Amino acid sequence: MTKALEGVRILDMTHVQSGPTCTQLLAWFGADVIKVERPGTGDATRGQLRDVPDADSLYFTMLNSNKRSVTLNTKSEQGQAIFAKLIASCDVMVENFAPGAIDRMGFPWEKIQEINPRMIYASVKGFGPGPYVDCKVYENVAQCTGGSASTTGFDPGPPLVTGAQIGDSGTGLHLALGIVAALSQRETTGRGQRVECAMQDGVLNLCRVKLRDQQRLAHGPLKEYPQYPNGTFGAATPRAGNASGGGQPGWIVKCKGWEQDPDSYVYVITQAASFHELAKAIGRADWLEDPEWNTPEARLPKLDQVFEEIERWTMTKTKFEVMDILNPLNVPCGPILSMKELAEEPSLRATGTVVEVDHPERGPYLTVGNPIKLSDSLTEVERSPLLGEHTDEILKDVLGFSDEEIAAAKEAGAV
Ligand SMILES: CC(C)(COP(=O)(O)OP(=O)(O)OC[C@H]1O[C@@H](n2cnc3c(N)ncnc32)[C@H](O)[C@@H]1OP(=O)(O)O)[C@@H](O)C(=O)NCCC(=O)NCCS
Repeated sequence: MTKALEGVRILDMTHVQSGPTCTQLLAWFGADVIKVERPGTGDATRGQLRDVPDADSLYFTMLNSNKRSVTLNTKSEQGQAIFAKLIASCDVMVENFAPGAIDRMGFPWEKIQEINPRMIYASVKGFGPGPYVDCKVYENVAQCTGGSASTTGFDPGPPLVTGAQIGDSGTGLHLALGIVAALSQRETTGRGQRVECAMQDGVLNLCRVKLRDQQRLAHGPLKEYPQYPNGTFGAATPRAGNASGGGQPGWIVKCKGWEQDPDSYVYVITQAASFHELAKAIGRADWLEDPEWNTPEARLPKLDQVFEEIERWTMTKTKFEVMDILNPLNVPCGPILSMKELAEEPSLRATGTVVEVDHPERGPYLTVGNPIKLSDSLTEVERSPLLGEHTDEILKDVLGFSDEEIAAAKEAGAV
């Protein structure tokens, strides 16, 4: 079976998380991803948060599956000559260095275009053009500057960052879509182009509903927020606790065992269409006859009481029992699953969403496989490469170097 991106060669100049997320996805779709790393050290994440001494960290191995690694000093003369040959031989170049780093290596966009007019040059930066364009940015900075932190958490309470890596992995996903779109456009134009994603923009895109609420504020209180009707609203979209971001109220409620288990909770949504069934299940059929409770409008100012009643019932059940009872009644709900539970979940193993991979240095480890399933391009997750594992192979097979030329490049410290 062929793969969707078979025949596409990626020059992967990425490091840390945002860029590697993007190129890992492209590799899973069949692209040949050549990861260029600095000789000796490589991607800094190889050595960060290490759990096994002298072995590539999980931080690295879980973001660099299915890639080939070549070491190359892009600041040496010979290294730059090899780099130019790689640019000429690839379809896409992806990088997420600090602003200006690729230019400082001597490869501004104009030069890349000159070497390879079909090249698609994709970059992640913290910010787009504007006052912060030159800043270095990591995940939580992006969450703070993209509108996520100001709208996450409880009121009163400080802004919060989320566990989901929406700044890094989120922007990597955006970038991958831009690359695939540019590859498609190249089919008709024959030209490459630049693809740029700023982490601030990516986070704001994922916080779209909060900018929606900012504009709704001008027309009155946000009635689905916990601040309504007794709290106060300020000038900006407030933090909404666990309230649902959509038109159907929801909240996280405790389940049996919550005193011992920090994840013994369930999210319940009181969707109007199935409220009858929910009310009966929790023993409040009386609400259905009572005009104080039997319409969404009547319940809106009393959502805290609605969820208190639901919680009184969920506290008598485990989160999985709640799921088993409410789902057949069409009540949308979901248990709060811990990472331990997700790692052990057989259905996620069966679909390849959680995969066990073997590694020569560290042995077997779990990773998250491709969450995007194509029926005609199956993903086989392979371990991440060791530093420079494919240097000789790439110089020989991709660039056509002879054994003597490879030896000379090594001698010069270029690879
Ligand atoms: C993530 C980030 C903050 C890390 O910063 P950093 O560790 O200081 O690393 P930099 O990106 O500044 O680059 C390091 C240097 O290594 C050099 N380098 C990288 N690969 C090299 C190679 N193969 N050979 C020689 N030099 C190399 C770069 O040219 C750069 O040198 P310069 O500063 O002299 O121009 C920064 O890269 C950044 O802001 N990236 C854009 C946003 C982003 O993706 N952030 C999320 C990361 S998950």
